[in-house]
Amino acid sequence: MYICICKGITEEKIRKAMNETSKTHDVLKKLGVGDDCGVCLISAIERLQKTQKK
Ligand code: FES
Repeated sequence: MYICICKGITEEKIRKAMNETSKTHDVLKKLGVGDDCGVCLISAIERLQKTQKK
């Protein structure tokens, strides 16, 4: 499932990035999530936070 359409970032890509760094901000910055239209940002942050809680 795509989280960020502008950058073509899927949930899977976010999950993999989470294995390299656990900080939400670092993952978003590394992948460029929210850098274009920004519509995905809140949803991406919520998903990252849920992943971190598991
Ligand atoms: S959908 Fe993520 S920046 Fe546009």
